[in-house]
Amino acid sequence: MTMISKDPSAVAKVALEVDSLKKSFGGVAAVDGASFSVEKGTITGLIGPNGAGKSTMVNLISGALSPDSGHIRLDGQEIGGLEPHEIGARGLIRTFQISREYPDMTVMENLIVSASNQGEKLFNVCFRPSVGKKRDRELVERALHTLITFGLYPLRNEYARNLSGGQKRLLELSRAVMADPKVLLLDEPMAGVNPALIEKLGEHIVELNKDLGTTFVLVEHNLEIVEKICSKVIVVALGTTLAVGTMAELRKNKAVVEAYLGGDVRERVGS
Ligand SMILES: Nc1ncnc2c1ncn2[C@@H]1O[C@H](COP(=O)(O)OP(=O)(O)OP(=O)(O)O)[C@@H](O)[C@H]1O
Ligand SMILES: [Mg+2]
Repeated sequence: MTMISKDPSAVAKVALEVDSLKKSFGGVAAVDGASFSVEKGTITGLIGPNGAGKSTMVNLISGALSPDSGHIRLDGQEIGGLEPHEIGARGLIRTFQISREYPDMTVMENLIVSASNQGEKLFNVCFRPSVGKKRDRELVERALHTLITFGLYPLRNEYARNLSGGQKRLLELSRAVMADPKVLLLDEPMAGVNPALIEKLGEHIVELNKDLGTTFVLVEHNLEIVEKICSKVIVVALGTTLAVGTMAELRKNKAVVEAYLGGDVRERVGS
């Protein structure tokens, strides 16, 4: 099945397209012919039972793994099989591509070193100081704005090592945002996070989506938050796409209910 449309305006609306994607590990077909597309500027959910192939898809899309066959297109350009840094440079990142926080740097410093234009910035500082200064100011402003968005502003001068687990999650997302991605893939960002912070993280994602137009792909077992923030949800099962729709539509879909939605959350996450 090919998902690319001949209509150029429809192609222009697609941020990410996965087409007949396959990846096996030994005899296990983890991703078995999955096809879906993610529209620009949306928050799209990717859900499905344990072992459905979601993380393998994320690994294929972000370049941690190479597909056996099929296509992955970012803005219409093939990215399947490229290295993670090449895919990152084209504007698609996943949170754990951002290295661990630097424990001995402050929260603010952590954001500054995560900015996407570090190479350019160094060049400017060395060879074009006046441009460098303006960019520096812009960078600091962007970092401050991101800190405010994520509620980390009061902690800006704190060493990263002193943050709680939940605050480190916020820092990880903030640093991903500083890399200025077009598409941000999040694999279970709410796992192990307390309910109050889940709510907050959800609000931050919505705000970034609105403010910066970042396209989000959210792999998540917490369906409450998926329902709240995702305009479209892709259900995968057995390595392939089972259905696409809003959560309300999917709840009425018998195949989806049988494959995934029938059990409660504890069954879904296998805990
Ligand atoms: N590196 C690997 N080597 C062998 N098998 C793997 C590997 N990675 C994933 N698998 C298998 O591929 C299938 C899909 O796994 P994957 O982690 O992609 O599922 P998932 O949808 O992310 O599940 P979960 O919701 O539990 O995170 C599973 O059967 C898993 O055991
Ligand atoms: Mg997974």
